[in-house]
Amino acid sequence: MSTTTVSTISSPRKKVTTLTFRQKKERGEPITMLTAYDYPTALAIDKAGIDSILVGDSLAMVVLGYENTLPVTMEEMLHHARAVSRGAKSALLIGDMPFMSYQVSADDALRNAGRFLQQAGMDAVKLEGGRERADAVRAIVGAGIPVMGHLGLTPQSVHQLGGFRAQGKTASAAKRLLEDAHILEEAGCFGIALESVPARLAEFISKQISIPTIGIGAGVGCDGQVLVTHDLLGLFDRFTPKFVKKYANIHETMNKAFAEYVDDVETKRFPAVEHTVEMSDEEWAEFIK
Ligand code: KIV
Repeated sequence: MSTTTVSTISSPRKKVTTLTFRQKKERGEPITMLTAYDYPTALAIDKAGIDSILVGDSLAMVVLGYENTLPVTMEEMLHHARAVSRGAKSALLIGDMPFMSYQVSADDALRNAGRFLQQAGMDAVKLEGGRERADAVRAIVGAGIPVMGHLGLTPQSVHQLGGFRAQGKTASAAKRLLEDAHILEEAGCFGIALESVPARLAEFISKQISIPTIGIGAGVGCDGQVLVTHDLLGLFDRFTPKFVKKYANIHETMNKAFAEYVDDVETKRFPAVEHTVEMSDEEWAEFIK
């Protein structure tokens, strides 16, 4: 049983910006980030005092039921990003650029990044990849749009990587990851997500670059942490990565509630008198005469 008091910040917080990220890194204060894809979840996460919400393309798997993140489209991402921006007013909101929205050309990347800010209320975007994405990052940052990079296990490259597997485990792969981190920093990224890389490598990279690293399965040495909210809540039943700490088992709670509802309806325990609207005896008499 956790002894943590529930944090529900009631008065509006100051808006978190990319500058806040930089300052937190400088002060050695961990940056907090979670994913959200809808209004009520964004509202609850924002109220808990989170620094940042990522409208991740993990949406494809944990909300839309796809096998991987590749099928989700710009239109779907924007639809969910709009709902999140209606719920969260203080956290820095990051829209995740879906597969094929930034890989074809830097012009395409800029146009699609702009849509996240102009049409969905996001403050920044995230895209996957290192040196091969430097031109796209420069084009987007050049238009005044903050970009977060994403290195290590980059799920949009699942077929190239041979599955959802940890990255940077050999000396040469680690060197390439470090180089990519420097390239993204020079291209203008305000931060980098590091997914499924050895903890000591993630810590080393975090110390070598001036922009914050946000780890997911990358150990405590990163400047911040992100998790997929559906994993943390135990809401996604297909699998839970090893690096996830489950804070609840909402899938089980939902399942139990739905089964109880079915039973209540079938046995006529629901609706009960307190769930029912009544008419006065006088009005009823008038009605049936
Ligand atoms: O899509 C997502 O949720 C992500 C996080 C895992 C970093 O990219």
